[in-house]
Formats: sequence, C-alpha cells, structure tokens
Amino acid sequence: MCGIVGYIGPQQAAGLLTEGLARLEHRGYDSAGVAVLGSRLQVVKKAGRVRDLVDALPKRFAGKVGIGHTRWATHGPANDTNAHPHVSADGRVAVVHNGIVDNAASLRERLTEAGVELASDTDTEVFAHLIGLSTADTLEAKVVDALSQVEGTWGLAVVHADFPDRMVVARNGSPLIVGVGDGEMYVASDLAAVVRHTTTVAHLDDGELATVTATGFTTFRQDLTTTTTTAREVDVDPSAYEYGELDGEPRMFTEIHEQPSSVERALRGRLDERFGTAHLGGLNLDPRELRAIRRVKILGCGSAYYVGQMGAGLIEELARVPADAEAASEFRYRNPIIEPDTLYVAVSQSGETIDTLLAVQEIKRKGGRVLGVVNVVGSAIARAVDGGIYLHAGPEIAVASTKALTNMYVAFSLLALQLGRVRDLSIADGKRLIAGLQALPTQIEEILKSESHLEEIAARLAEAESMFFVGRVRGYPVAREGAQKLKEISYRHAEAYQTSELKHGPLALISESVPTVAIVPKDELTDRNVAALHEISARRGPLVVVTHPDVDLGELDALRVDVPKNEVELDPILMTIPLQLIAFHAAKALGHDVDKPRNLAKSVTVE
Ligand code: AGP
Repeated sequence: MCGIVGYIGPQQAAGLLTEGLARLEHRGYDSAGVAVLGSRLQVVKKAGRVRDLVDALPKRFAGKVGIGHTRWATHGPANDTNAHPHVSADGRVAVVHNGIVDNAASLRERLTEAGVELASDTDTEVFAHLIGLSTADTLEAKVVDALSQVEGTWGLAVVHADFPDRMVVARNGSPLIVGVGDGEMYVASDLAAVVRHTTTVAHLDDGELATVTATGFTTFRQDLTTTTTTAREVDVDPSAYEYGELDGEPRMFTEIHEQPSSVERALRGRLDERFGTAHLGGLNLDPRELRAIRRVKILGCGSAYYVGQMGAGLIEELARVPADAEAASEFRYRNPIIEPDTLYVAVSQSGETIDTLLAVQEIKRKGGRVLGVVNVVGSAIARAVDGGIYLHAGPEIAVASTKALTNMYVAFSLLALQLGRVRDLSIADGKRLIAGLQALPTQIEEILKSESHLEEIAARLAEAESMFFVGRVRGYPVAREGAQKLKEISYRHAEAYQTSELKHGPLALISESVPTVAIVPKDELTDRNVAALHEISARRGPLVVVTHPDVDLGELDALRVDVPKNEVELDPILMTIPLQLIAFHAAKALGHDVDKPRNLAKSVTVE
C-alpha cells in the first residue's frame, strides 16, 4: 500500500526519490508525488504510475532534501490533489504519510473554522497545516505539537523550508526506517526503497521520531526525550529487491520457480533426523511449555489465513492439539476470549498487515502468548510477537503470494512436528515426516516441469467467467487458495467449496460453462471425492483434477494434473503448486499485468 521514501545529502533528490518510489510500486498504489527543498519547496504529484510522475517533473526541480510517496486511496479518490505530499497553507511544510488519522473529520473542521482552506479530501493534509500553524521553535517540536493532536497511525516524513538541513520522521503503527549512507541519509517505509543505496538501517519503534540530517540521525519520543535506536547492517542481497520483470518474466513467475530453493532455505538447520523432530529456537518455548499448550489458534488474512487453515489441520493431525485458523480481520471485533494455555500464531508474509498486527495487539493486551510466522525480518508483526518462525522465502515482490505461502506451510509443518514430538507423535512418524519434507524441493521441481500442460489447462479455464475449486478436509484450504490466486490476477470469478457441500446447493450452478478444479489426493477420501466428480460430470461440468498418479478416475472426462505423492499430511503443499501456475498462465492468457493486479496491494496496511 502507501510507500514513503526520503533523501538528504549532496545529490539532487528528485531522481533518487522517484527511483525509490518505483521500487515500492509492487506494494500497490494509485498516485505518487515528490517534494524537494532547494531555494524553495516544490511539489509535484500525479494520479497514475510513478512514470507519469517522472514525466510531469519540471526541468528545474532542484533540491538536495526531499520526500516522496506512493498513495493508496483511503480518504478521497485517487487524483492529483489527493496524492501526497501535502503542504501547509503557506507552502513551507510538506508531509507524506502512511496510515490513517482517526480524528481527521474533527481536525479538518477545526482547521476550517480557524480559516484554513483545505485543498484535498485527505486525512493527511491536517498534518501539514498543524505543523505549519505550530508556534514551536524547532521542527521537532512543531511535529510533536501536531502529533499530539492526531489520533491514529502514522509513518510520517516532514520537510520544512525554514529548516532546510533536516527531515523529521515519525512512526506509530506504520513502518519507518532510516538508512545510513556515505555522507547522505535515506528514510523509507520499506527496505526495498533504499536497499540499492544502503543496507545499514535503523527501524523506528512505535511512538518514536527521528531527526535526519545529511550526516546522521537522532531519535526521540513524543515528549522530546532522546532514545537510543541505532542503525544495523541487515543481511540481505540487494539484487533480490530489484523491481520489474526478471529475465523478461514477471516476478510471480520467478517466485514460483524459486520454490525448490526457498523451501530448502526454510528447512535448513531446523530438522533433527536422529530424534525425528524439528528445532525452532525462535519459539522461545521449552518442551514443558510446549506440552502445556492445550489449543492453537492461527490468525492471518487472505492467503495467509488459508495456509493457516492448512497449518491448523497439520497441528491437529500430528500433535493432536485442537487447532483452528481464523481471519485476523474479524478476530478482534468479536471480543475474543484469550486463554492462557492457547498458543496464538500470527501468520503474515509482509509482517505489516494491519488486521493481523491489531489481532496480535489485542491478544497481548489480554495477556496471551503469540508467535509469528513471518517473512520480513524486523517487520511490525515480527517485532510485536513473543517468538516465532521466520520463513526465509527471500523478498517477495509479486502481489500474488506464492513462495512465501509455500514456506508458511513448511513452517507450520515444522511447528506441528515439534509440538507432536513433545506429545504422542512417535519417533518413526517424526522421521517419516522429515523424509517427506526433505523430498519437497525435488518434487516441486518435478511439478514445475509440467508447466506447458498447466498452461493449456489455464487457457481453457480463462475462457470461463466463473468456476469452482473444490476439495475436502486437507484439500479444502488448497481449493480456497487456488481460487484466491486465480481471482486476484485473472479477475475471473472462482469460488471454493468443500466437495462434500456441493450437493447442498452449488451443484445447481454446474453447467458446461462452469468448470470445476478438484483437489483429489490419494487418501482416505479419494473414493468419495471421485464419486462427487461423477455428479459434476453428469451435469456436463468441465473438470480439472489435481491428483496423484495412482488415483483411478475411471471413465471421468477430466483434464488431469498429476502431482508426486508425498506423506498424506504434506500433500496439500504440493497440490498448491500447479494451482499457482494455472492462475499465472490464465492471467497471462487474458493479458493482465500479473505482478500488479488491479485494486490490490502487497501489504495491506489499512483496516
Ligand atoms: C496473496 O496472494 C494475497 N495477495 C493476500 O491475500 C495476502 O496473502 C494477504 O493480504 C496477507 O498478506 P500478508 O501475508 O503480508 O499478511
């Protein structure tokens, strides 16, 4: 969603800012803008893409201090006026903001009564006016003055024509990092924006602010007392953050094909073959504490929620602990009962999803223990939890998640294994699962080899306006994720259903123009699954069946996708891979921008 980048140093800022903004494009946005401070403060902002902004920049746009923003519309439509930066009435203050001002309506009213003419429909504009109107002496005090009147969340960057040697940035619920360069400094909402220039960064804490000059930064709290946040080298490969296509292919394609190696990374050093268990040091739970867990509750949003559902199934099967998954976006609104012997697990690729973060905070407020299953190191959720499992999927750029989801599943397998082995899971079963996990990379490679077959199937599905994805028990969350992936990038309607529920309603919709993608693993439900497929076929519904080589589909008229067999508990992970490729090729066949689907953002940082 919204992205922030800022620069102060010896170079002209504009090019660095727009380049940083382009690196945030994958997060999703609808307008972009920059402000630079030279002999005067200049602002240019445009609805549309960063390249539209670049085209709109005047020839003379000089300044060595500047801030930039990509906006995802919340208050007011996506147009040039509502784009950030927003400026004060006297044109001397410019601000960019991620987050939401909860009391924007009353602040806007107060400002209007005080004679301020508001230019935009946004909540952010109030920051610019409040800072501009503050009578405090320093920029820091002016910003603090403004923040004390605002309720809500912010990642904020401010420049002021009266203080040309500095920027002030602030964080409260929306990430903000300070990047240390050589005689120059950067600020950003996301490492991707600055990683080409520096990998030495400081993460601000909620409630913290920083003054950033060309030579360094100092941090402080809203009461202006100093804090000791320091910058650290982060261990990342800057080339992994390159934006745009790689070798002429969309990032989603690269990320799907990277899965054999990203799964290997998730497993590395975490398997104990001798005792048939996993070692997840980051859980911060000893065996006695693990044994004391009576229930597991997994919280995530969208696809992370669906993988959470797969994870809950695994935990129940392997550890025999009651487990379930719930959409984090709904959780805190039903005043959830937080139990001391329940282990709560927040799952998120970005570690920034606000609904998941707020669920974590609600649990912690009520004294619960929360683990994170997170990809982005140092992200808000990773920092808020009591322990957790990093996914090690590497940066995921495409909006449609693939490799991170696969690694979430691997992480849940490891958690289930460790929980199981302190309970009744036998050492033999533990070893069986470890062998299954170790086989995954090669088996994923095998599935990726069938890409041309999947491309043909995708082209057929792309012709349908609407379709079903069905599965049972372990296969149901796989169907949900398959439908989600297809929906988000091909814009075709896809509905996931439990195969067993078809006859209770949706069968009425089956016809020759409504295909069904069915998940039919070789397991205790194969015969029942196949029987349901006959019911679909009898109503002339076209079928795509994702199954195992030794499943006999009899006379069924179906396009078949065979996936290598693993242990039953791990089959879902492999059955998800062909669905990624089907969604990818359907979107491509329809001519869509696969990496940047309409209306979607990579990190959903607003409620
Ligand atoms: C995945 O393809 C989706 N774009 C989306 O559902 C995503 O999984 C969800 O928004 C949660 O994101 P997170 O993992 O970063 O929390």
